[in-house]
Amino acid sequence: MPTTAILGLQWGDEGKGKLVDSLCARHDLCVRFQGGGNAGHTVYPEGRKIVLHHLPTGVLHRQCVNVMGQGMVIDPDRLLDEIAEVEARGFALKGRLVISDRAAVTTPMHLSLDGIRESGSGKVGTTKRGIGPTYADRYDRIGVRMVDLLDRTSLKEALERAVAVRACQMGKQAPSVDSMLEPLLQAGEKLKPYIADAALLLAEGLREQRRVLFEGAQGAMLDVGQGTYPFVTSSHTLSTGIPAGCGLVTPLQDVIGVTKAYCTRVGDGPFPTELNDATGELLRTKGGEFGATTGRPRRCGWIDLFALRYVCRISGITRLAITKLDVLSGMETVRVGVGYKDHNEPGLPADIRRFSALRPKYEALPGWSEDISGVRDLAGLPANAQALLRVIEQQVGVPVGIVSVGPGRDAWFTVAG
Ligand code: GDP
Ligand code: IMO
Ligand code: MG
Repeated sequence: MPTTAILGLQWGDEGKGKLVDSLCARHDLCVRFQGGGNAGHTVYPEGRKIVLHHLPTGVLHRQCVNVMGQGMVIDPDRLLDEIAEVEARGFALKGRLVISDRAAVTTPMHLSLDGIRESGSGKVGTTKRGIGPTYADRYDRIGVRMVDLLDRTSLKEALERAVAVRACQMGKQAPSVDSMLEPLLQAGEKLKPYIADAALLLAEGLREQRRVLFEGAQGAMLDVGQGTYPFVTSSHTLSTGIPAGCGLVTPLQDVIGVTKAYCTRVGDGPFPTELNDATGELLRTKGGEFGATTGRPRRCGWIDLFALRYVCRISGITRLAITKLDVLSGMETVRVGVGYKDHNEPGLPADIRRFSALRPKYEALPGWSEDISGVRDLAGLPANAQALLRVIEQQVGVPVGIVSVGPGRDAWFTVAG
């Protein structure tokens, strides 16, 4: 079974959407298995920008069937807006989109809860898309699921259950069941043609040897289990999230880990290689580092090869995709984090205070001045850019298989292993 996964290795925004878009032409199914409207995947189909949040990037390839797995959290109104936008761009979705009937629904109550949490002392700088509260309700068994949107009685019962529990936390801010019922039913009516048993469809596709691409959202360092907890998202972003998020187990042939040639983070939490100086500012400006979902400026810093080595080991990454190498053009010196002072263990600390205290050790490499955005093979890169890729491979212990040198669909090339 030809299966590929494309997963972020940092704190999100590595360029996953661009790579999925670039590789989708060779796949029959594109599958999202976690996250929801917190994702912002920027792509340039036919040269014009579009940002996808819920929809798998395969919607922009007319031969591709797209699956939203049970591990996702879905805000029905925002999803409908996205569907309308994609269809207005000429990508009809009829017969090409399947939403799991078991996926979790983000209601207005979850959006309020996210806002309340973020205004208090436990703030993590979320996207305020209701992600944490929706997952919390799912695991607390008081969640609303896509299937509930198709039946008034089921939806009313599900909302009553959830409001009864959350009202204690929200007080007067708790929305009434009635205020949510009709709009959610209306959204359900519109989404009905897409709602189905996605796991079954996927199992069938795999049995028929369809080529399946699993599209990760967020990144390994935001994984709720292995990331910089509590400054993480609420889902499993590693390859470990694929089986539970799709509702089936399948071997993965190619697990592509995506990393920028530098590093960014949006929201709060530790970031050992962060640059709070002119170089950080330069990366932000040259790389256009502003959140695709919230517009927030992204924090910028050097690539952290120690952290990458750690997450590659636990996520079974078979090859690396290095994005935004073009952004480093013109830098006299490029630094790469290769470890931390006074940290002699192979792993990353689980304790957030210890993680926050990590002080990076760098290797400095000479930069290059050439514009590399038109380069389409390894040999076309300046020698110093090739040397940087070799250092990345050596330190991370995984081969570089793909290099991306621009935001466009064609601005990338493969590197033979
Ligand atoms: P995602 O969330 O991982 O899909 O990444 P985002 O879309 O949030 O952020 C990546 C940004 O970098 C987007 O604006 C992409 O258009 C852009 N991008 C992706 N790959 C490259 C690249 O190789 N070079 C440049 N200059 N931009 C890129
Ligand atoms: P893509 O798929 C970057 C971050 C938020 C916050 C933390 C928790 O585009 O890479 P949440 O709203 O999920 O509860 O926020 O996670 N975050 C992302 N950062 N890219 C993303 O998605 C992100 N999704 C969530 O900024 O720090
Ligand atoms: Mg993004």
